[in-house]
Amino acid sequence: MFNLAAIWLVSFVVGAIAQTCPALPSTINLTANSKLPDPFKFINGTAVASKADWACRREEISQLFQRYELGTLPPKPSNVTASLSGNSLTINASEGGKSISFSVSISKPSSGTAPYPAIIAYGGLSIPTPAGVAVITFNNDDIAAQQSSSSRGQGKFYNLYGSNHSASAMTAWAWGVSRIIDALELTPSAGIDLDHIGVSGCSRNGKGALVAGAFDTRIALTIPQESGSGGAGSWRISDAIMANGTSTQTASEIVGENVWFSTTFNTYANQVNVLPFDHHLLSALVAPRGLLIIDNTSIDWLGPQSVWGCQKTANYVWQALGEADHMGVSQVGNHNHCAFPSNEQGDLDAFVNKFLKGQSTNTNIIKTDGANNLGFVESQWVDWTVPTLS
Ligand SMILES: *[C@@H]1O[C@H](CO)[C@@H](O)[C@H](O)[C@H]1NC(C)=O
Ligand SMILES: *[C@@H]1O[C@H](CO)[C@@H](O)[C@H](O)[C@H]1NC(C)=O
Ligand SMILES: *[C@@H]1O[C@H](CO)[C@@H](O)[C@H](O)[C@H]1NC(C)=O
Ligand SMILES: *[C@@H]1O[C@H](CO)[C@@H](O)[C@H](O)[C@H]1NC(C)=O
Ligand SMILES: *[C@@H]1O[C@H](CO)[C@@H](O)[C@H](O)[C@H]1NC(C)=O
Ligand SMILES: *[C@@H]1O[C@H](CO)[C@@H](O)[C@H](O)[C@H]1NC(C)=O
Repeated sequence: MFNLAAIWLVSFVVGAIAQTCPALPSTINLTANSKLPDPFKFINGTAVASKADWACRREEISQLFQRYELGTLPPKPSNVTASLSGNSLTINASEGGKSISFSVSISKPSSGTAPYPAIIAYGGLSIPTPAGVAVITFNNDDIAAQQSSSSRGQGKFYNLYGSNHSASAMTAWAWGVSRIIDALELTPSAGIDLDHIGVSGCSRNGKGALVAGAFDTRIALTIPQESGSGGAGSWRISDAIMANGTSTQTASEIVGENVWFSTTFNTYANQVNVLPFDHHLLSALVAPRGLLIIDNTSIDWLGPQSVWGCQKTANYVWQALGEADHMGVSQVGNHNHCAFPSNEQGDLDAFVNKFLKGQSTNTNIIKTDGANNLGFVESQWVDWTVPTLS
């Protein structure tokens, strides 16, 4: 059957070269794959051989996540305006005759000079505030509620797009982050350096911060903290840990707990092996931009082995792009959930100083304090090799 979607083209700019990618087929035959799916193979089986191919593969992965797990991310609304009053930046967005308004607070650093680098912090910053960096506090729950599985479709995003919009709460929040960046672009007097914007959050908000960093390429550094399964963890590995008897958050649990994922994902929560992706590919959407995964080894529920294995595997995408040290993992135990341990400060500084302050630092950081790779056996999960993309 002739399908309009099949000739819809995705265009964007890679470096200075405008590129057009074929649209994702409207129907995909999902087949079970117990391994972490190959980042370097298109859904049609063709190998990803160049950086230009990766740009299209990235777009394909983004579409796959929206289709099966996260719901649709709407484009920039037709009208976005912003106004600054003191430390409060108000963003108005309108589309199709409806409009919403939300505000974020900007806390300027006491050192440095404007324009400042900034971290957009879901629900407030839970990592130590870096010197010279502004903090933009984003009340993400105002955009999409996350009270329980019955809060679906509530929040300002849904006031604008309708309560039945497919976007999950995490996608709605990512949309909100993009509007904050639009507003900063419109408001030079806010004094924020648009080339040095980070995003962070912890736990459920860490899952959300990773999604924002995955979708908006204007974000220079993404720092998900203790995001666990559904964030930096892998659905497949978390299921395997659970099957081995360790209580871990899984897709099957998470879809009943809250509205972080789209309703479409319910279909796959008990058969994650048919998903043509796992969360190593959510991280891969960030590449080659900066990504620092901060995690806690000692909370079983977060799936430490899942996060470690998933993110070590994600790093292969940065390796293939020749930027392995733009992505790091720092996993340390013996602290409360979302309490930042002082022995990770150096890792955080290295990433913040490189990606938000433009300094030359050593960000070759992929480490866990867990013994024996936390039980992660790569050959059980990875059955592909890493190309060098030219
Ligand atoms: C597979 O998909 C990629 C990306 O959409 C496309 O560039 C390539 O031409 C396709 N290969 C075949 C054999 O259809
Ligand atoms: C999907 O599977 C069906 C049934 O096996 C087959 O007829 C169809 O050609 C397949 N489609 C694609 C795109 O591979
Ligand atoms: C955009 O929205 C602002 C209010 O936020 C309004 O003043 C302006 O007229 C709108 N522009 C257009 C083109 O609709
Ligand atoms: C934004 O929306 C609010 C609430 O509707 C309104 O009071 C305000 O004037 C709007 N601001 C701009 C700049 O349009
Ligand atoms: C949302 O979908 C439900 C079920 O299909 C329908 O009953 C309801 O009217 C829809 N609501 C809106 C606002 O479209
Ligand atoms: C589950 O246990 C088996 C048998 O001990 C082991 O081979 C496998 O690696 C374990 N899987 C995980 C994810 O820990």
